[in-house]
Amino acid sequence: MLAALAARQRRLSPKYFYDEAGSALFDLICDLPEYYPTRTELALLSNHAGEIARHMGPNAEIVEFGAGSLRKIRLLLDAMDQPLRYLPIDISGAHLATSAARLQADYPGLGVVPVVADYTRAFQLPSKVPGGGRRIGFFPGSTLGNLSQAGALRFLKQAARLLRGGALLVGVDLVKAPSTLHAAYNDSRGVTAAFNLNVLERANRELDADFNVSQFAHSAFYNAPLQRIEMHLMSRRAQQVHVCGESFSFAEGETLHTENSHKFTVEGLRALAVQAGFRPGPAWTDPQKLFSLHWLRAPF
Ligand code: AVJ
Repeated sequence: MLAALAARQRRLSPKYFYDEAGSALFDLICDLPEYYPTRTELALLSNHAGEIARHMGPNAEIVEFGAGSLRKIRLLLDAMDQPLRYLPIDISGAHLATSAARLQADYPGLGVVPVVADYTRAFQLPSKVPGGGRRIGFFPGSTLGNLSQAGALRFLKQAARLLRGGALLVGVDLVKAPSTLHAAYNDSRGVTAAFNLNVLERANRELDADFNVSQFAHSAFYNAPLQRIEMHLMSRRAQQVHVCGESFSFAEGETLHTENSHKFTVEGLRALAVQAGFRPGPAWTDPQKLFSLHWLRAPF
């Protein structure tokens, strides 16, 4: 009993998923039949790009949090009235440089200014171009859902400050039937399992660790009271693991918690935005109410 009460859950930030192999696996996830968020958000962006561009106004600059899929930003740029600058923010400098260069080649008139930073922490942006339009934040993919409630609020407050006088366009996944959510994180081809397990392979590659990856199982389930998918790696048996010269033991069935993916209601996201100082504008959803895009006006 005392041990049960003293037990602590091991956790790893989901940002460690995204090395080269993990990013490639994530791209495969986005095209899985069970993983509806990417294609649903792309459809929302392309269906409403004209209206979104009108909200942005002329000569706007876009700040994208997380380098993200260049597919999404292109849909907006193509609809915008003379976009001035694009500032993608990402922690992975090398990846950011290549994707920024590719975008720059396709949009020669656009100022592409990559910013290497961890946007969940405090950071600075280059000052606005004098005489330029609004500064618009873009945070697609329901990445906001990876943060805790407190972390999401902290992020939105920082975004409100950085986007003063502009707006934030954020895409978040919606609460829905647990079976649909479960399928999206337990795909039949095992790509999500490989994505989750890759974090152990990565530790073996980069941290001189000796995880026996076949002795861990992908576990993803919907935690309904907390409105989130949780991903864990579950030890299939009692085992010892070494990382950076230190030894750790796992009991059979013990898990390493690797990701939370919070799901939102339209009203819940708007209430959170209000708490952070935004004034919510329109929200767009698909007919099945799978995913949502929100226009949030930043304070002056
Ligand atoms: C990129 C964080 C939005 O939570 O759906 C996909 C990552 N994890 N499948 C998500 C993910 C497992 C994804 N986000």
